Amino acid sequence: MTVTIGRESIAAAHDREASGPVTPLVFERTRRMRATASRRALVRETRLAAAQLVMPLFVVPGRGGREPIPSMPGQARLTPDLAVEEARRLAALGVGGVMLFGIPGAKDTGGESAADPDGPVPETLRLLRDAALPLVLMADVCLCEYTTHGHCGIVVGERIDNDATLPRLADAALAYARAGADVVAPSAMMDGQVAAIRAGLDAAGATDVAILAYASKHASALYGPFRDAADSTPSFGDRRSHQMDAANGREALREMALDAAEGADMLMVKPAITSLDVLALARQRFDLPLAAYQVSGELAMLEAAAANGWIDRRRAAVELLTAIARAGADVILTYLARDVATWLAEEAPR
Ligand code: PBG
Ligand code: ZN
Repeated sequence: MTVTIGRESIAAAHDREASGPVTPLVFERTRRMRATASRRALVRETRLAAAQLVMPLFVVPGRGGREPIPSMPGQARLTPDLAVEEARRLAALGVGGVMLFGIPGAKDTGGESAADPDGPVPETLRLLRDAALPLVLMADVCLCEYTTHGHCGIVVGERIDNDATLPRLADAALAYARAGADVVAPSAMMDGQVAAIRAGLDAAGATDVAILAYASKHASALYGPFRDAADSTPSFGDRRSHQMDAANGREALREMALDAAEGADMLMVKPAITSLDVLALARQRFDLPLAAYQVSGELAMLEAAAANGWIDRRRAAVELLTAIARAGADVILTYLARDVATWLAEEAPR
């Protein structure tokens, strides 16, 4: 094989050197700026900050309850009082926000309790609002945690009725806004959900409550552990009639454009690790803040490998999250938020 440097092959350079004046080989020394930790730190292109991280929290009714989630090591279902304690720790570490998921005391076919002002999410939001922590308070808006059948909308026969679901989502979003949410995050993948929620919020005077749209949400095996946590596995069928086919990237960008047009303040992609191409394209196409959700299955893979000693948990966690940021995410929802913020605080110069 002949290696070409500039216009000259190495072989030709050697021949010439043997016979005539020595000409130095010309090539790029990309290793120069990698030689020391200080040089690497100086030119690092992507840095994680605690302020860009959002910690998802699962809240249940009651007091003083902490129930670990087996498929999500390190994560637990918390009663509102303990969720506030956790939020205090997160705020002290500089984490940007929390995303609340509710598991109600009782589920029904219509997911009525999603909008219950006394449900675990509104109760936690009121406590958090009163605590006045420097955190952005976010609440997931969907019906699947609240329905007996585990589907994200109102089920008629074996179909999900898109338009009948919209007012339910808007009601739930308004209940969370009234309880103190800064941001509501519709994840049901119903067409028109962002517009319906924006209209409901505005009509009630909640014009300052922002919408983080789960805009590009693929149907994914990586949500499995979450469904254990939320007890929301569909009792029949699956979510493929509303969540996108994981094979589709152009459709993902279309979903994002539609949610932007409906009034979303921020656009999310999920799962994060399977959406890096979408993130990179979205970064060029949209000027809205972009978020990525490192979902439960992404956590489970990392934790399982780390628990077996097959992977360095801290290095792998930082590498994965950095890649998500590098692809274009401003905001990252991650179950690792507390750990990463702790590591960042350790590294910070005193
Ligand atoms: C509810 C919702 C889900 C997730 C976020 N919001 C589950 C699903 O769509 O099945 C997944 C989050 C995770 O896996 O960590 N619609
Ligand atoms: Zn859902």
